[in-house]
Amino acid sequence: MSQALQPKKKILLNAFNMNCIGHINHGLWTHPRDTSSQYKSVEYWTELAQLLERGLFDGLFIADIVGVYDVYQDCVDVPLKESIQLPVNDPLLLVSAMAAVTRNLGFGLTANLTYEPPYLFARRMSTLDHLSRGRVGWNIVTGYLDSAAKAMGLHEQVEHDRRYDQADEYLQVLYKLWEGSWEDDAVLNDPHARVYAQPHKVHKVEHHGEFYQVQGYHLCEPSPQRTPVLFQAGSSERGLLFAGRHAECVFISGQDKTATKVQVDKVRASAAAAGRNPDDIKVFMGLNVIVATTEELAWAKHAEYLSYASAEAGVAHFSASTGVDFSRYEMDEPIQYVKSNAIQSATKTLQDHDWTRRKLLEQHALGGRYITLVGSPGQVADELESWISETGLDGFNLTRIVTPESYVDFIELVIPQLQQRGSYKTAYDAGTLREKIFAHDAHLPPRHTGSTYRHPLTGY
Ligand SMILES: Cc1cc2nc3c(=O)[nH]c(=O)nc-3n(C[C@H](O)[C@H](O)[C@H](O)COP(=O)(O)O)c2cc1C
Repeated sequence: MSQALQPKKKILLNAFNMNCIGHINHGLWTHPRDTSSQYKSVEYWTELAQLLERGLFDGLFIADIVGVYDVYQDCVDVPLKESIQLPVNDPLLLVSAMAAVTRNLGFGLTANLTYEPPYLFARRMSTLDHLSRGRVGWNIVTGYLDSAAKAMGLHEQVEHDRRYDQADEYLQVLYKLWEGSWEDDAVLNDPHARVYAQPHKVHKVEHHGEFYQVQGYHLCEPSPQRTPVLFQAGSSERGLLFAGRHAECVFISGQDKTATKVQVDKVRASAAAAGRNPDDIKVFMGLNVIVATTEELAWAKHAEYLSYASAEAGVAHFSASTGVDFSRYEMDEPIQYVKSNAIQSATKTLQDHDWTRRKLLEQHALGGRYITLVGSPGQVADELESWISETGLDGFNLTRIVTPESYVDFIELVIPQLQQRGSYKTAYDAGTLREKIFAHDAHLPPRHTGSTYRHPLTGY
């Protein structure tokens, strides 16, 4: 087929959110039209899910954090005053309600594996996969905060690369439970024969490893996807090794197209190194969009949003991501790069530029580490298409600057533009989240390491 006749790559889209008030765009909770302080009400979430489904979003990606951001000024004063991901409620408990009012929207759920035994977590995810009819994904995180480790009875968090070793083994246990414990036809559900499940088709899992010891049957019958769609966001060398083995979707924070292309290529190479196809991983980039009917109005909106933003809160958040207390620096004092035990991809950005506290405050004024597109619907659509074609990205995680206004603007103004150009779907595909994103069946593909844990008699 000639290039001109090839259908355009469809942009994947998640709404990026968190079960809290201040997520990425700090200070915007003070904006008169922002509703994020209603995060404690179930209607806030069900209405959001319905809105996103009207916009044909692939998913709602819900970040999460265990622990508090106490690196900046060595205390939680700014996080509490500005509500920087504190208070924060549990993301998984939102899903049942949202699944009940939607049919197609996926749910990318962040859960930290460090502090929860795999046996219990496996059941919680299978339950949600059943209740949502196969619409859940899991963003695999291991944490980066000493405050979390201390709250969970440890002196400090596990060392960076060691966290990934533990995560590798955690995934092994989960694959055994999700993929290997119940055969596909284990459930007979035959009231006349008085057999719900056939004992010879349900298998005890045995795992004797360095971090985990598990002997037991998975508590749930097979859910539509068995293993939820696996998301991951680490981009250190060790993080990429992990992504290559396990991730189906990777989430990055790009700054410019050249560096983003390098990052995307590395993710695809990591999949190939693990014996998978480079395109087996979909790569999403975090993004802020401010759009209005004209460019002039969009910039006016940008200025209005900025007047409510808190750059200091953004920098306090970045202190936690990097493990560096930026409050200790004078405004124009060069910030030293220090290797920390936090997010290496975040600390690495400090290496790349001559950062000062003043420059960080400018960068974090509105949208944290994510780039911000401001413009008319046509301009935003042009930029989105160019990010996809020039970097190899598959899609975006769209932040909620003023919620739900930013999502509404995007749905009303940008999505019709993308649809006219053929770069955004006009209807959902059928099936589970994995079927929708990858256009293959509901289960992990044969090239994925998780599929090797299937019971030999499981016939899919
Ligand atoms: C874009 C992005 C989003 C992330 N979201 C979360 C999150 O919601 N919760 C969390 O605990 N960690 C989050 N992380 C941290 C990662 O999961 C990972 O632990 C961290 O990036 C360390 O990996 P690295 O050093 O390999 O980059 C995020 C990281 C990135 C880059």
